[in-house]
Amino acid sequence: MSTHQNWVEKDKKQLHPVYHPKSHIDPLVVDHGEGVWLYTTDGQKILDGMAGLWNVNAGYGREELAQAAFDQMKKMAFTSNFAGMTNLPSIELADKLAGFAYEGLNTTFFASGGSEANDSAFKTARYYWKRKGKPEKVKVIARKGSYHGVTMYATFATGLEKYHTMFGPAVPGFLHIPAPNPYRYDGDIKPGETIGQAAARALEEAILREGPETVGAFIAEPVMGVGGVIVPPDDYFPLVRQICDKYEVLLVADEVITGFGRTGEWFALKHWGIQPDILSFAKAITSGYAQLGGIQISDEIRETIETASEGEAWMHGYTYSGHAMACAVGLKNLELMEKDNYPARARDLGKRLLEGLKTLEEFPFVGNVRGKGLVCGVEIVSNKETRAADPATAMKIFKAAQKHGLRSRPLGATLAFAPPLVINEEEVDEIVKRLGAAMDSISA
Ligand SMILES: Cc1ncc(COP(=O)(O)O)c(C=O)c1O
Repeated sequence: MSTHQNWVEKDKKQLHPVYHPKSHIDPLVVDHGEGVWLYTTDGQKILDGMAGLWNVNAGYGREELAQAAFDQMKKMAFTSNFAGMTNLPSIELADKLAGFAYEGLNTTFFASGGSEANDSAFKTARYYWKRKGKPEKVKVIARKGSYHGVTMYATFATGLEKYHTMFGPAVPGFLHIPAPNPYRYDGDIKPGETIGQAAARALEEAILREGPETVGAFIAEPVMGVGGVIVPPDDYFPLVRQICDKYEVLLVADEVITGFGRTGEWFALKHWGIQPDILSFAKAITSGYAQLGGIQISDEIRETIETASEGEAWMHGYTYSGHAMACAVGLKNLELMEKDNYPARARDLGKRLLEGLKTLEEFPFVGNVRGKGLVCGVEIVSNKETRAADPATAMKIFKAAQKHGLRSRPLGATLAFAPPLVINEEEVDEIVKRLGAAMDSISA
């Protein structure tokens, strides 16, 4: 047995995320990475078109980040951040983040990832409404196709049913409305309405149907990721903000993927000139070099926590909240992102990637190519006229692309691309070239 096969055999001892043994055959066993490239134990060199899981924005092998982790670990890797104690990196990072994403969000709570961030958001929304004397406002509206993570609340906020099937009964109070998908909107559209208006109306109708006095929050990814890279029409989010304000519903922006430059702005709701009440972040804050996520809350929400009695304290927190090493890595990563202006890189290189991917529309099975900044989706269809989604062909292309040394991610019928933001022009062109070659090979 080769060393590589030996690793594959041993790998069977761990349970992998979102696991079915049938889909975990012949895994890429990654040994190391550099920039946008991954090197596997069987000698492959692969362009990571997904930046890991949409997160390794600074690329692989960054010594500055390793050094930041090393220095902090040596000094003190961890200490409690629970009431009565704190540490310097978490103080500095929270200070740096105050007002960084959105003007009115000046308070940060740290968790270890996106699911914990969203659970923290849901609990904080409940807390807020209880403190405001409206304890009935517990329901959360999310969108079909959304992905918010896998803790129990986040699982049922997620609008992809396959994540629910084996984990019911469902947590009550989470409901889903159509997403503003310009290519295949599955809600109703009134004559003269845009898709953005129709999808926003779906929110208003859901709030009215449930009773505004029972709805506490609406959660949305500004650009939907796992649901197939759905870029909303420009009129959608401003209308959503108005509706949330009208019915006193907190707007939670799940920017776990879109945060920290990915879409061409530091945070994605900036594209539409609005801001959320609660922001969930994770992934790219450390470029995946340490496990860190969290929420930022509006000054008004903070006020309700600040002015509560002892008996109504915000009793929430994780052992690793404000983890010193992770926060030190986050700080260093933010420094790198600012120095290299990651939003500008995402804008410029994203334009190049999108234009390149659009040239593939000449293939009969490429139905739609879309993107914002450096997050793009290529949707595969069996018929361009009917737009019938074709996940089987998407999977074939995904596998063929991997043979051509390109890693993407098949999301239903859509192949996603979200490479590290340090990618250069030549490497962007390489994505298009390799994907084109993969499409040629399956056409043949
Ligand atoms: C939009 C969004 N929210 C939340 C999560 C969950 O984050 P984590 O896997 O770090 O718990 C993800 C993960 O991909 C995500 O894409």
